[in-house]
Amino acid sequence: MMKTADTIKETRDILKAHRDKKIALVPTMGYLHEGHMTLVNEAKKHADFVALSLFVNPLQFGPDEDLDTYPRDLERDLEICKENGVDFVFHPSVEEMYPKTPELILGLASMASILDGVRRPGHFEGVITVVNKLFNIIEPDYALFGEKDRQQLMIIKRMVADFNHDLEIIGVPTAREADGLAKSSRNVNLSETEREEAPAINQALEIGRDLIQDGETDVASIKERIEMHIMDHTSGEIDDLQIFTHPDLDTVQTVSSDVIIFIAVKFEAVRLIDNMLVIKK
Ligand code: PAF
Repeated sequence: MMKTADTIKETRDILKAHRDKKIALVPTMGYLHEGHMTLVNEAKKHADFVALSLFVNPLQFGPDEDLDTYPRDLERDLEICKENGVDFVFHPSVEEMYPKTPELILGLASMASILDGVRRPGHFEGVITVVNKLFNIIEPDYALFGEKDRQQLMIIKRMVADFNHDLEIIGVPTAREADGLAKSSRNVNLSETEREEAPAINQALEIGRDLIQDGETDVASIKERIEMHIMDHTSGEIDDLQIFTHPDLDTVQTVSSDVIIFIAVKFEAVRLIDNMLVIKK
């Protein structure tokens, strides 16, 4: 039977009885969708006990971001977890996680000096601080994160290495809607028209990938073609569009190795991100 807890003490007491098993953690901010269940299903392949956390972490939202409108529905999330064979759900309140204004917030060097590290000041500091706390509370053997948030995934892998967390991070490919839109809890905040337009983000990434695989090496031209597709097919605005080498995230002007194309598009009430790893032929 699925167990739940909203306090750290209760969580530790419940997990004590399962320390003989391999434990996987799926950290989430809730409003679960199939993308999260892909993480849960992958977790089951590695571990005998799957814990999932539901916590909209205020520390990772900037003052002008969507903390207040971020969708939340605990009852629905618990039902989805039950149906999908999650063993334990940790759903703390903000007061439980941050009883006092945090004095210590983890910092980052170069990995936050690009992309959302620049666009969303303080975001990754908030993410790694809460993930660090979750790792200390749950003490999992595995933790799973989606490749949709690839910069987050790379930063968390680095945190685990730098802080010697005794666990393995598993990155899981992005789950997509039938029309290619990356699944995200934020998609519900798109208007009907924007939802129709949003698959253009994945199409634009595919255009970029095809250009590179057909031999285009000039980053400026690739970005221009991607930008044109978004401008012609959506009412959204490109908030970020960058191409970096994989896996080092070095800046490139000319593509000569595998790269990752990162994109962020701002619609009226929601900013969507996506990325594509392009293996150079
Ligand atoms: O990817 C997310 O949903 C969040 O950034 C995470 C990892 C749960 C931390 O709050």
